[in-house]
Amino acid sequence: MFYCPVRIISGDNAMQKAESHLAVLGKKALIVSGRNSAKLSGALEDLNHILSRLGIASCIFDKVTENPVLQDVIEGSEFMREQACDFVIGVGGGSPIDAAKAISLAAANRLQASELYLTDKFLKAFPIVAIPTTSGTGTEATQYSVLTDPLEKKKAGFGHPLAFPKLAILDAKYTYSLPAEITLHTALDALSHLLEGLYSNQRSPLMYPCIYSGIGLIIKQLPVAMIDGRNKEARAELMQASLYGGMVIAQGSTTLQHSIGYPLTSEYNIAHGLANAMVMEEIMNLYQPHVHKELDALFAALQIGKEQFLEWLNALPYQKNVHISDEFITTAIPQIMASRNMALNPLQVSAVDIRRILEKIRM
Ligand SMILES: [Fe+2]
Repeated sequence: MFYCPVRIISGDNAMQKAESHLAVLGKKALIVSGRNSAKLSGALEDLNHILSRLGIASCIFDKVTENPVLQDVIEGSEFMREQACDFVIGVGGGSPIDAAKAISLAAANRLQASELYLTDKFLKAFPIVAIPTTSGTGTEATQYSVLTDPLEKKKAGFGHPLAFPKLAILDAKYTYSLPAEITLHTALDALSHLLEGLYSNQRSPLMYPCIYSGIGLIIKQLPVAMIDGRNKEARAELMQASLYGGMVIAQGSTTLQHSIGYPLTSEYNIAHGLANAMVMEEIMNLYQPHVHKELDALFAALQIGKEQFLEWLNALPYQKNVHISDEFITTAIPQIMASRNMALNPLQVSAVDIRRILEKIRM
């Protein structure tokens, strides 16, 4: 099965090309963004221009932080109801788009903060539009929203078909202003999604063209985009790879690689893609005996060997280790074991496996 009910409009002037599709979604939009990225990227200006031409009213909720917390979502949903908006547009990296999805569901179903993970309460949603300004999460093509509960210090996602955007608008020019470090961390997140699509026990050959192509594009274009952020082809192909990553995890979800990354982000504030990358080699080694055919086919398609791939990965200038406390290891292991992604690993992962991986990246 392959399911992706999102109208995706990509390429140069995607915003203008999307005009007729935006026009039918509602009369007043809630634009959800972070403090800066929507403005710096130029996406907000383009969007406002199109909305005013269409006669669609809008208001903005720009309080979304890097890892959106449950209270942000509730605040956004109350604002949406007060303002009588009838659709939501998330503009920015994964956080504003994930927040936009959750705000849509919270506002439509009048949810409290404690109900944001209770998907059986999700009966309807306001239409959602996603306009990414990074190339990493692929959230524009998924039914997931990842939120943080600051009281529990827990980062966890929900998935529901109502959270798929109706429309995704992808123009790589909105990523030109990203610094090299964010380009790197977000691309590593996309790489994680593509690899996890291959590892997941929900994998299917329908996903493989996206996986092979997406990983190939990242290997080719990530080093280019890090040096020359305005390289049009590199930026466009990284955005395509990120989209493929989203389409893939929409089918198979993620695995231990993400489950282990979430507590590293909540506890040590490590960027999401970076946290995944820190454990990428270890996870590949752990899974390999169980997905060796799939990995062999991937590397054959990429025309490189596993060793070459790992050399490429390790040569990228990202932080490989982190100071981790004993206390963290003790509390994180049961949290990781209980996360919903663990059901999708290609083998039964034990607490001993997780401890070994955390010890490996410990400084
Ligand atoms: Fe991710």
